[in-house]
Amino acid sequence: MSENKYTITAALPYANGPLHLGHVAGVYLPADIFVRYLRMTEQDVVFVCGSDEHGAAITLRAKKEGTTPKAIVDKYHQINSTAFNDFDISFDIYSRTSNEIHHKTASDYFKKLNDKGSFIEQTTEQYYDEEFKQFLADRYITGTCPNCQNENAYGDQCEKCGSTLSPTELINPVSTLSGKTPVLKQTSHWFLPLDKHEDWLRSWIKDGVLDGKQHHNPKDWRNQVVGQCMSWIDGGLKPRAMTRDLDWGVPVPVEGAEGKVLYVWLDAPIGYISATKEWAQQNGKNWEDYWTGDRKLVHFIGKDNIVFHAIIFPVLLKEHGDFVLPDNVPAYEFLNLEGDKFSTSRNWAVWLHEYIAENPTKIDELKYVLTAIAPESKDSEFTWKEFQARINNELADILGNFVNRAVVLTHKYFEGKVPALGNTTDTDKEVIAEMEKFPAKIGELIMKYKLREAQAEAINLARLGNKYLADTEPWKLAKTDMERVKTIMNVALQITANLSIVFAPFLPKKAQKIGEFVNFDSKNWGFAGKSDLLPEGHQLNKASILIEKIDDAFVDLQVEKLKESSAMNNSNFPPQKEEVAFDDFMKMDIRVGEIIAAERVPKADKLLKLTVDTGLDKRTVVSGIAEHYQPEDIVGTKVSILMNLAPRKIRGVESQGMILMAENENGELSFISPEKAFNAGGEIR
Ligand code: MF3
Ligand code: ZN
Repeated sequence: MSENKYTITAALPYANGPLHLGHVAGVYLPADIFVRYLRMTEQDVVFVCGSDEHGAAITLRAKKEGTTPKAIVDKYHQINSTAFNDFDISFDIYSRTSNEIHHKTASDYFKKLNDKGSFIEQTTEQYYDEEFKQFLADRYITGTCPNCQNENAYGDQCEKCGSTLSPTELINPVSTLSGKTPVLKQTSHWFLPLDKHEDWLRSWIKDGVLDGKQHHNPKDWRNQVVGQCMSWIDGGLKPRAMTRDLDWGVPVPVEGAEGKVLYVWLDAPIGYISATKEWAQQNGKNWEDYWTGDRKLVHFIGKDNIVFHAIIFPVLLKEHGDFVLPDNVPAYEFLNLEGDKFSTSRNWAVWLHEYIAENPTKIDELKYVLTAIAPESKDSEFTWKEFQARINNELADILGNFVNRAVVLTHKYFEGKVPALGNTTDTDKEVIAEMEKFPAKIGELIMKYKLREAQAEAINLARLGNKYLADTEPWKLAKTDMERVKTIMNVALQITANLSIVFAPFLPKKAQKIGEFVNFDSKNWGFAGKSDLLPEGHQLNKASILIEKIDDAFVDLQVEKLKESSAMNNSNFPPQKEEVAFDDFMKMDIRVGEIIAAERVPKADKLLKLTVDTGLDKRTVVSGIAEHYQPEDIVGTKVSILMNLAPRKIRGVESQGMILMAENENGELSFISPEKAFNAGGEIR
């Protein structure tokens, strides 16, 4: 065993929605494979993750679902942590940034840097939504990306080209809250002067040199990561705000900063540290050992997170002092699905928790496919057809078939006991020598973050075994030369035992099953290639089916389901709101009303002042329908009116109730009228 020490992180997913296969293929599965390999070869590894529960991603989702941020993060933390667990992602801890320990850690971190003078406090003009009386940070504002012209860039980031933005850089900024063009208003914030860090960042990222010492080999970093960082640095780094005017997050721990919280991209990466602390507390360890000294810190992320992990967080770590800087930041490109981008709003996705619920016995099968197509160096694509082909033609026909033959033939000829190796031919010797090389080759590829190739090599070991049996044909020799059969089966079984080792990082369940067939526990063997893992006379267990094939009906069903669910959700209609109790619903008094008069509200483009006969009385209701109906056209129309809504003054007019309207995909409004000629006053329930 070597003595390297590792702290491995996987990007904290926002707890604002479930995880889909794109997230898994491009962060969590590769991180897990890497960690499983390290655990087999190194002594000291911790693997941390958790839910990112702050920021506009959360508050906007809460608004959309008509609930609170707390309810949102509780719901999705539960769904996602369960999904990770069911999918065998072996985090040492899956924490959350709403935890007390995180609030304290992030708060103290900010205070320490602020006391040191790492930030500059500045009053600047920020976009503000006058209707909602709120500053528009991050996702509260969208507009056209100045770099790639994507019209839906966020205030802090363009997800299309990956560039990091400030709201004021957006072309045609629009408030996500009101849909209106925001105004500029003064506010003060704490900025991280990234420009002051340009020099050391440049040599650290480009040459791997930090404080005059070789920190890492820059060739080990992916081109896209170095490329994105260098283009950002070459463009000139600017001070970046580290606080926000928001009411959800870690409060800025400075007097007079009421109503301000830490920027989510300051607080979330500190979540890696808080998670380590929490884990250390639970396991009697010292958390600082995992963030200081000769530790290798590795951040697995998606490409939209590069700047935050390779520039901003390293600056924060270095400013804090003592902490290690990342040894590598393996970033993944995006995974597409059946010819299109994954999209939550269009429901074009395969959700991890749904896949698990429907296919509880096909966990490793999915892992295999996702690693085989992982978007390591460019975007890649998941299709159900390829899912089927990979499982049937590779996993079942090569791995499953070989393991099955090795074990079944040994039972047939030798009562399930490992026969002696005996005299070996040149072919045997070559095969043995080749087999012994596989683990090292696979390990090297894993350490270079080339997991696709690494897994392909693991399959090649099974391929070697298959070819060996096909070439030597022990089932024919069994009639004439049993001594020779003994040798062949011994070699085949050693290959099988090696397969249970090399597949352990990738397909832990299958690897364990292979181990059980040959009654071998790979745990005690590290990752070394050996030809005597199973001694002569060793008793095997019976084999069962390792990989079940996927039939065409399964593929058709999955494709159909995807199309159906996205068709059902083809527009931008919001998701279902939180459940309400029957009694709560019954508190609402909704009736048929008849519009008996209508006029425009002066100086308000959207408003009409209606007089409505409710059957009980005639009352005034102000309604935002002027862009959809002319006053003269609607007199005499029967509508639905919410009677017992507390009266509100709108533009100086008291509105006593609300007219209920249906809205279509284009934002057009329609009255909801009884389809029969009912009188005003009739209740709607
Ligand atoms: N929540 C972010 C995302 O999903 C990732 C945060 S990674 C961390 O894009 F560093 F902030 F933790
Ligand atoms: Zn862009």
